[in-house]
Amino acid sequence: MAKLAPSILSCDFSRLREQLLAAQAGGAEVIHVDVMDGHFVPNITFGVPIVKAVKKILPQATIDVHLMIETPRRYISEFAEAGADIISFHVEAERDFDATINLIKKHGKKAAVALCPGTPVEFVSEIISKLEMVLLLTVNPGFGGQTLLPGMDEKILKLRREIARRGLRTEIEIDGGVKEENIEYLASRGASIIVAGSLVFSDEEAIEEKVRRLSLKIK
Ligand code: DX5
Ligand code: ZN
Repeated sequence: MAKLAPSILSCDFSRLREQLLAAQAGGAEVIHVDVMDGHFVPNITFGVPIVKAVKKILPQATIDVHLMIETPRRYISEFAEAGADIISFHVEAERDFDATINLIKKHGKKAAVALCPGTPVEFVSEIISKLEMVLLLTVNPGFGGQTLLPGMDEKILKLRREIARRGLRTEIEIDGGVKEENIEYLASRGASIIVAGSLVFSDEEAIEEKVRRLSLKIK
């Protein structure tokens, strides 16, 4: 059904290598990297140096870079060269979707767009066929550890139905507010990649065991 993509937003950066290796040992194949610029969202996280570090630590992993930044097209090449495998940019931060998608593809990377909770799926209906993935933010962007917003399950289902109706293979990634009690339900709504940050990195259960257990739940 779905793959788990641990988000490093909630990891202990003084133990980044150890925690990434534990996540991979638990079966994680996709690592989600939340880039925030303090303008598109009221928080600053990390950028190209951390993408390079994650790629160096886990060269076999799929590095899934979520750009919560203004003017994302200006930075696509840097993130591509740093080791990103999937690059998601926010449709609320870009006007020329085609130019940005084409630039990601020119670098041989998977192109994706991200939608804030308030942005309807219809906003991307004209470009879905050009995308490998659509990221649905299921919390308002900026911080980990939030609660899943109401109605997001219906939004996932609506996008899943639109992709199916058009016979496309575009993946749906959901990001934000994923917890033990909702992860299986969200996978059943049609999400094929499920991002989890605080659920994976913020409690005492061993990361390897946690990733293995959660991955089995949504497999
Ligand atoms: C929001 C971030 C978070 C993060 C996951 O801007 O994108 O959604 O990836 O955070 P958790 O899993 O802790 O809600
Ligand atoms: Zn994210």
